[in-house]
Amino acid sequence: MVERNGMSSFKLGKEPAMTEGLYSLLKRRGFFWPSYGIYGGVAGFYDLGPLGSLLCDNIETVWKNIFIVSEDYLLVDCPSIAPEIAFKSSGHLEKFSDHLTRCLNCSTAFRADHLLEGVVEIPDTLSRNELEGALRENDIECPVCGGKLGEVEEFNLMFRTTIGSGGEKTAYLRPETAQSIFMDFSLLYRTNRERMPFGVAQIGKGFRNEISPRQGILRLREFHMAEGEFFFDPAVHGFPPFERFKDTTVRAVPNNDPGSTVEVTLGKAVENGMICSEVLAHHMGITMSFALKIGIPKDRMRFRQHLASEMAHYARDCWDLEVELSSGWIEVVGIADRSAYDLNQHSKGSGEELAARRKLPEPVCQRSTQIEVDLKVLGPIFRGKTARIVKALGELDISHVKRYKEKGEPLMVELPGEGTNEVPIDAVNLVEIEERTSHEKFIPHVVEPSFGIDRLMVAVLEHAYTEMESSPLREKEEGEVGPYRVLRLDPKISPIKCGVFPLVNKDGLSDIARRIVQDLKRFGLTTYYDHSGSIGRRYARMDEIGTPFSITVDHKSIEDDSVTIRFRDTAEQIRLPVRDVPTKVLNMINGT
Ligand code: ATP
Ligand code: GLY
Repeated sequence: MVERNGMSSFKLGKEPAMTEGLYSLLKRRGFFWPSYGIYGGVAGFYDLGPLGSLLCDNIETVWKNIFIVSEDYLLVDCPSIAPEIAFKSSGHLEKFSDHLTRCLNCSTAFRADHLLEGVVEIPDTLSRNELEGALRENDIECPVCGGKLGEVEEFNLMFRTTIGSGGEKTAYLRPETAQSIFMDFSLLYRTNRERMPFGVAQIGKGFRNEISPRQGILRLREFHMAEGEFFFDPAVHGFPPFERFKDTTVRAVPNNDPGSTVEVTLGKAVENGMICSEVLAHHMGITMSFALKIGIPKDRMRFRQHLASEMAHYARDCWDLEVELSSGWIEVVGIADRSAYDLNQHSKGSGEELAARRKLPEPVCQRSTQIEVDLKVLGPIFRGKTARIVKALGELDISHVKRYKEKGEPLMVELPGEGTNEVPIDAVNLVEIEERTSHEKFIPHVVEPSFGIDRLMVAVLEHAYTEMESSPLREKEEGEVGPYRVLRLDPKISPIKCGVFPLVNKDGLSDIARRIVQDLKRFGLTTYYDHSGSIGRRYARMDEIGTPFSITVDHKSIEDDSVTIRFRDTAEQIRLPVRDVPTKVLNMINGT
């Protein structure tokens, strides 16, 4: 038996090399395919089919088990559309752009840096003028028609839309899920009982109007993201949880020597200043353990540090987890130190202070502004609900009240279940008081691991894919051509966990098989019941979609209520009582 892993690569126009066998399998078996195919398709959009959706969901579940269950991140779910002001403050409106050049003959648009790949070093670090110069110096022409290329321009990647029937309010689809978490910081901090540090996570779609997405599912215009924002006090030195990853060895490509790869422990990398903080290194450790859990081999991953010129506008340091695929090293996760950039920007943009409190070594005297209300005015207006109104006023942000006082407009106060209440601004005063305090305010810093689930799917699929030129199973099949294909996915992320087969579709075997299906379903396990074709063909169907366990009911099952389980990766079989099947399968999925 000859095994090949890595296999022949194929190119579809400008698609990255992806194994031909794997690509056709994924489309045929319903993992994913280009969207809107009946109308010719639209570049940068892919549908996840039934198996791809399950795979995506399972990868997200492993992610949640790490970030939400093990690391205690708070999970949120916020809208994908945000008003313009949000992205004006965050800097995306001004800076979230790529460099575009258009063919003057056929009008095809290209990312200028992509046209210079292999021509100059790390082209996506070049400025607009440098790209312009490099395209001219190297006589780069339109790859489609050979025409002359136009000037390089900045192209903002956000999709613009409007909110409201009159289209009066400009809005954008979020290019990252992170921004809502920053805008909600004060609410989240309070929800977390003002404890620091803490992490907030969000899983959802990100939208980027990529200039020329020709890399299949690796570069989409709408894609799945899973992001964590870890808020911490930059004045606190040392991060005890880092102990766990101090001795973890990673392959690193540091930005002071981008041509070299070094093996280094995360502890050493922080000590010698290669990684800027323990918090960042800790999140690189978490990221690597996640990648290993979903089945990406350690020797096919590396962390690459961004060059200063490559860094996003908000980042002070950034390391990408890259995975070696058939199309080269591909970024699948970006781990950025965003410092206090976003909270500062949204504080400035909204006028609401986004800050946390830290305990002082010694109490100090501090002046502060407080809200005072005039009950003689509020009592007659609000009667029975006055106390609740006063409490809600006390919870308002001072800067918010200050703005309304300046404008002389009434304050709108929301009471749960009682709607919005208009409070006359003259009944609310701001008074300066002096008090002893043992706390001071500070703006938390943020480390953000940002995962692209679609790219992670490609990574696990490529590494799980194995072609065999022959197989004992295949030889029994007639009329089968081509190699025998197996997706050796980790059982945790396999879309279907168990195939269930009656050996023959008679003698009551299918009744037992259907009962087993029901038992497995009760344990939350996905199953595929199949009674058609030879047993070898049924196993083969499961192998190529990565189903780790196949359960076969035969005539012995009628006698002693036992079945066989066949393991995808070894083709070995064991016999066990029907009642033990779900727990055996669950234990194997959980690796226990
Ligand atoms: P690239 O340099 O490849 O454009 P990026 O640096 O812009 O990626 P980030 O902004 O760090 O990517 O986004 C976080 C993660 O989201 C990436 O690591 C990647 O997995 C995923 N991602 C970003 N853009 C896309 C896209 N167009 N299609 C699919 N996944 C994407
Ligand atoms: N949130 C990571 C990014 O958009 O780059």
